[in-house]
Amino acid sequence: MTVNRYGVEGRSVLVTGGGSGIGAAIARAFLDNGARVAVSGRREAPLRRLVHGAPEGTALAAVGDVGLAADARRVVDETVSAFGGLDVVVSNAAGYASGDLADLSVHDWEQLRRTNVDGFLHLAQAALPHLVASRGNLVAVASVSGLHGDWGQAAYNATKHAVVGFVRSLALDYGDRGVRVNAIAPSFTLTEMTEAMDEDEAAIAPFVDRIALGRPGRPADMAPAVLFLASDDAAYITGSVLTVDGGTSASTGQPR
Ligand SMILES: NC(=O)c1ccc[n+]([C@@H]2O[C@H](COP(=O)([O-])OP(=O)(O)OC[C@H]3O[C@@H](n4cnc5c(N)ncnc54)[C@H](O)[C@@H]3O)[C@@H](O)[C@H]2O)c1
Repeated sequence: MTVNRYGVEGRSVLVTGGGSGIGAAIARAFLDNGARVAVSGRREAPLRRLVHGAPEGTALAAVGDVGLAADARRVVDETVSAFGGLDVVVSNAAGYASGDLADLSVHDWEQLRRTNVDGFLHLAQAALPHLVASRGNLVAVASVSGLHGDWGQAAYNATKHAVVGFVRSLALDYGDRGVRVNAIAPSFTLTEMTEAMDEDEAAIAPFVDRIALGRPGRPADMAPAVLFLASDDAAYITGSVLTVDGGTSASTGQPR
């Protein structure tokens, strides 16, 4: 049933990394609110599962690797041809790496940067002309790791700071062309990215200890913030990074 609480009915939306976790929850929420959604990712099967059963003409599985400029452009083009335009792009696809920077191989850094930074760039470059045409908007799924430092996550952290930098600067460059650019910043959220820790209370406990609301985030906590930023209710919001982190980043970092 279409709820349409957010006024995104009929909008043409592209969500990258939509086959799992936060991206899947965002794609489902747009579909539930009557938007037409292209769900993109590298593997076809989860994308097909997600769009299965959606009303005819409202959902598309668009296979592509955002780290490749040609794929990002093709996925944008497929969305535009399927839905006749593009109103909202959600740049969500990302990889993760942790550990001592001295141990990170150049190959692993390049893989991470290719998805998290180059992926944003390729997607934005392909999508912006269409967003100018529709006076649409882009929402990035950044992270609190793009706003502050983390122990043992220097490379991931650097990529998320890059995303926040793109968001703020593009908001300036495209504001007078009617395009808004925003981000959400989740903190620890239970998804495939954190699955190694999901069953491990001892590993989760230090994260939960830093979350004012006392529990990890869930993908469904993230989707409403993205739909709000993408909607006309956020018409005067651009260049903004909305923390959806249970209060994690409200702390100075000092102990309880
Ligand atoms: N889970 C957390 O604790 C957390 C916290 C803060 C921010 N985030 C951010 O949330 C977003 C979603 O992550 P998630 O937690 O749902 O993890 P996830 O691993 O479930 O989702 C990431 C998705 O991106 C896809 N992907 C990876 N590389 C890709 C590529 N090159 N091209 C296309 N798709 C690609 C993956 O296949 C996956 O479907 C990411 O941007 C992540 O950095 C997650």
